Amino acid sequence: MHTIKLALFFAAACTLMANAEDGYRLWLRYDKISSPSMLKEYRERIKGWIIEGNSPTLSAAKHELQIGLDGLLDSPIPEMSSVRMAGALVAANVHDSKLLPEMGLKPELDRIGSEGFVILTRKVDGQDATIIAANSDIGVLYGVSHFLRLLQTEQNITNLDVTTFPRIKLRVLDHWDNLNGTVERGYAGFSIFDWHTLPIYLKPRYTDYARANASIGINGAVLNNVNADPLILSHEYLVKAAALAGVFRPYGIKVYLCANFDAPILLGKLKSADPLDPTVREWWKNKADEIYSLIPDFGGFLVKANSEGQPGPRDYGRTQADGANALADAVRPHGGIVMWRAFVYSYDAKDRAKQAYEEFTPLDGKFASNILLQVKNGPLDFQPREPFSPLFGAMPKTNMMMEFQITMEYLGQGTSSVYLAPLFKETLDSDTYEHGKGSTVATVVDGSLDDHSLTGIAGVSNIGADRNWTGNIFGQSSWYAFGRLAWNHDLSSKEIADEWIRMTLSNDVRVVESVERIMMPSRETVVNYMDPLGLNMIFGYDFHYGPGPWIDYSPHPDWNSTYYHRADSLGVGFDRTRTGSDAVNQYHTPLSDEFNSLVACPSNELLWFHHVPWTYKMKSGKTLWEDLCYRYYAGVDSVRAMQRTWNALEGLIDSERWHNEQMLLTIQEQEAVWWRNSCLLYFQTFSHLPIPAGLEKPDKTLEYYEGLSFPDAPGRW
Ligand code: GCU
Repeated sequence: MHTIKLALFFAAACTLMANAEDGYRLWLRYDKISSPSMLKEYRERIKGWIIEGNSPTLSAAKHELQIGLDGLLDSPIPEMSSVRMAGALVAANVHDSKLLPEMGLKPELDRIGSEGFVILTRKVDGQDATIIAANSDIGVLYGVSHFLRLLQTEQNITNLDVTTFPRIKLRVLDHWDNLNGTVERGYAGFSIFDWHTLPIYLKPRYTDYARANASIGINGAVLNNVNADPLILSHEYLVKAAALAGVFRPYGIKVYLCANFDAPILLGKLKSADPLDPTVREWWKNKADEIYSLIPDFGGFLVKANSEGQPGPRDYGRTQADGANALADAVRPHGGIVMWRAFVYSYDAKDRAKQAYEEFTPLDGKFASNILLQVKNGPLDFQPREPFSPLFGAMPKTNMMMEFQITMEYLGQGTSSVYLAPLFKETLDSDTYEHGKGSTVATVVDGSLDDHSLTGIAGVSNIGADRNWTGNIFGQSSWYAFGRLAWNHDLSSKEIADEWIRMTLSNDVRVVESVERIMMPSRETVVNYMDPLGLNMIFGYDFHYGPGPWIDYSPHPDWNSTYYHRADSLGVGFDRTRTGSDAVNQYHTPLSDEFNSLVACPSNELLWFHHVPWTYKMKSGKTLWEDLCYRYYAGVDSVRAMQRTWNALEGLIDSERWHNEQMLLTIQEQEAVWWRNSCLLYFQTFSHLPIPAGLEKPDKTLEYYEGLSFPDAPGRW
């Protein structure tokens, strides 16, 4: 080919590649508004913009507004020189603003605290203006993001009146990322944090990560795995963490680190890490001083102690509170906090689901005021469905922090398309009855139930170095939903899905409706073909991928599936009633009574709380066995329905993302069949009952499924 032609061809190819819709832009796409009438309205309304004041955070807000408006309105929208021009969009921190003091916004600003914002349509000198006001620079950035979201989702902006502030103080992503670049339970490639090239090489992706998080109000990131390498607290790695903190700071994101409880020994060469030993306390104090000298706004520590082989205070005959308080004392002078995990269990307990409650409730009131007890949403371990952890509602004198898992360790990992907002909402909306009806988990977590001001919510991240961040595009929706719910847990799953689809895929109503039909039942679909009726923990050993109800060879009894489902010739399920393990009594009445009763227990938790005869007549009129079969089949049918719905969207979604998802749904359908067949064939060896007539028969044997192995399954380390 002629050289010039070659160059032109190359340039065209590069342009195409640059425009490739590969998912990197997440929900911050800012493509031209598709509705001509909305575009016209927006262009008339927003003739220019101005953000009063100067700071790194305000620069970030300016940049976002500039690229957002230019892209969405498809023309350069100028930065104005005066707030008093027609069609102005004015954003400001009230403390820096010439305009805001005369707007009479005090009542609103008094309500929104240090991170909230208001967005209003107002007249300025008789001219229409849009005002974004906040008490802080980060409030301005959050307000700008929200305003852009209104445009991206094509909302009417002629008469805006938004007042909003976060209900939970710490809204944190927990990265289970190792210093060698792998991600524990990560299914989107390697870690985004390249410790090797830090602190000098600052990847643009770090800024894009911060932009995405700030756009949904996430204000913290724990950079390393809870199974913590003590090296992270070495000076060399603290300098690297400080570099990341520098990138994230303008976006309101604080950095936290996971501390290995034995760091005083492993790093400090002390003889002990006993939290009551003065030398150990001194070591933590000095370490905290060193960290704050490098990262003045360091958030604090997250600690996994005495859990799954991690060291902890129990090793020194001390309580969890003793351990947490030692670290809390070290960071307190700097305003730091400690997130202490309640994920503590021993391997041979009669009922593992009861252990965290038994370990921690006696310690209520013993944790320092700058500690949050970080509790997984359910009593066990991020199963597709668990009842909420009874610790919520049982420790009124302790700051209780929610821990959700956004990465889908137990929900099909990277190949399943699942929108997790319904799972998050189900837990948050559950009633603990701590102070009678209406004492929801959400009110425990947002501090309103027992009057706590230090509140927090964490999501174990599903982010990796894959170009589209989460591997499966629907992983983006769960990251997005986590942030939105952390800000306001009253939002509905559907509202959030609607926003995400419009911003990420398309405002075309056919796309919005169809993708909602895929997303909204997607979690229940997975429950149906994996763990219906309250079954849980029946996945493949160790890597947690695929079914493994037959697993019974772990030296740890509670790492065996058989420990959980307890199938026998009489029935299936774990008896946690008052005559069984009595876990029901960790809940307040009337919930404990409801869970205890075979008849009253909600069917989706039935086998969690009861060992139920195979021929038991369910509310549906079917026997337990039939009900179980129909649910497994319904799960597979729903995946097939998802496939049909997605296939019909060809041409309405860019081909790259459409094809990727189509292939993933093909895999998910196979996995769903695999789960259904292997679980039913396995449980059939106990029930000795036929799969009801009319349902397709498994085409493989149980032996075949039991023989499958996945030595290189992703995501373990
Ligand atoms: C699960 C998960 C582990 C993780 C642990 C935790 O058990 O499989 O990989 O370390 O949870 O939350 O600490």
